[in-house]
Amino acid sequence: MARIKVEAGKPYEVIIEKGALTKAAEYIASVTTSKKVAVITDDTVDSLYGDPFVCNLASAGFETVKFTFPHGEASKNTSTFIKIIDFLAENHLTRSDTVIALGGGVVGDISGFAAATYLRGIRYIQVPTTLLSAVDSSVGGKCAVDIPMGKNLLGAFHQPSVVICDYKTLDTLPREIFLDGCGEVLKYGILYSPDLLSHLSEKGTGFDREYVIGSCVQLKADVVKRDEFDTGERAMLNLGHTVAHAIEKLSNMTISHGAAVATGCAVIARASASAGICTKDTSDKICDAVLALGHKLSCEYSAKDLCNAMLSDKKRHGNTVDLIVVEDIGRCKILPISTDDLLAFIEKGLRA
Ligand SMILES: NC(=O)c1ccc[n+]([C@@H]2O[C@H](COP(=O)([O-])OP(=O)(O)OC[C@H]3O[C@@H](n4cnc5c(N)ncnc54)[C@H](O)[C@@H]3O)[C@@H](O)[C@H]2O)c1
Ligand SMILES: [Zn+2]
Repeated sequence: MARIKVEAGKPYEVIIEKGALTKAAEYIASVTTSKKVAVITDDTVDSLYGDPFVCNLASAGFETVKFTFPHGEASKNTSTFIKIIDFLAENHLTRSDTVIALGGGVVGDISGFAAATYLRGIRYIQVPTTLLSAVDSSVGGKCAVDIPMGKNLLGAFHQPSVVICDYKTLDTLPREIFLDGCGEVLKYGILYSPDLLSHLSEKGTGFDREYVIGSCVQLKADVVKRDEFDTGERAMLNLGHTVAHAIEKLSNMTISHGAAVATGCAVIARASASAGICTKDTSDKICDAVLALGHKLSCEYSAKDLCNAMLSDKKRHGNTVDLIVVEDIGRCKILPISTDDLLAFIEKGLRA
């Protein structure tokens, strides 16, 4: 078991424990005096964990109501958001009550945003059940929904009161969703931790879950402490993401986010080595970890297509694009690169 403190404006703990779901009531009672809780989840997670979770809370004396919506990113919209708000109001939740997000990043993001806005903000608790939500979205307080103009355009910063991560729930994840989360795990290793990266290369997807999730959460907590509201260093967490967004876009979203992030990291690592920003040994280590986690070093798109897609990315400032490049394992930096030089840089990254 690991307990990690996130020192945001309002500090809270992330509890990482196999079987934590069965102790959820105890952990929730330790951070709130609420009598009433609203569990928000999706249909897949509900069918796997909803009933025992609600029973656990009810038997501990919580008056528990549950709202379930269809799984998937398509539900992370304003229509589901309003349904959740209506549900909270119909069930008379007050400012002393609590919202509990049981599920992956979609459930966490939309429930967090509902909790941030209902009655101008009520308490909420994250119970992540995907690898991505365990290592990334459940920590840091960013929550949002998608609107037709783009992903995550309507949101807030609202920190949870506690995060309860039972990594046994990852046993029921379909393999591709587990692999998807590995893309973000890899990112933390490259950004901050040679030990984490070598563990991932050695163990592949059979990594030690408590060690890996604990390391990623600690690393994210450190960044959130220094830049809670994403005005500086938190941008480093976008390593591999500019290339990844281009790959996702060119594939019409058929390549998952995590797979694209892993490939994006490999492209950036090789381009960094070719440009003399890091050694070939560093880039080889990153590529080994990408392969060990079941991801690809390259994609079927040309450097030209990737660059065109990247230039419509929001990280563009006039004639430069901010890329996060690798200096060493555990040391990355932001490199503003001119749109004229981008093509040659990405071409180098696509070469084996
Ligand atoms: N707020 C942040 O800081 C942040 C950071 C990264 C990503 N995100 C957001 O997270 C979302 C992606 O999260 P995700 O990948 O967890 O997606 P998700 O919540 O859609 O979960 C993926 C799928 O796995 C299913 N699932 C969840 N837990 C399961 C389990 N234990 N067993 C079996 N199936 C399970 C879900 O029903 C869903 O179909 C995106 O909307 C993204 O924008 C937010
Ligand atoms: Zn990501």
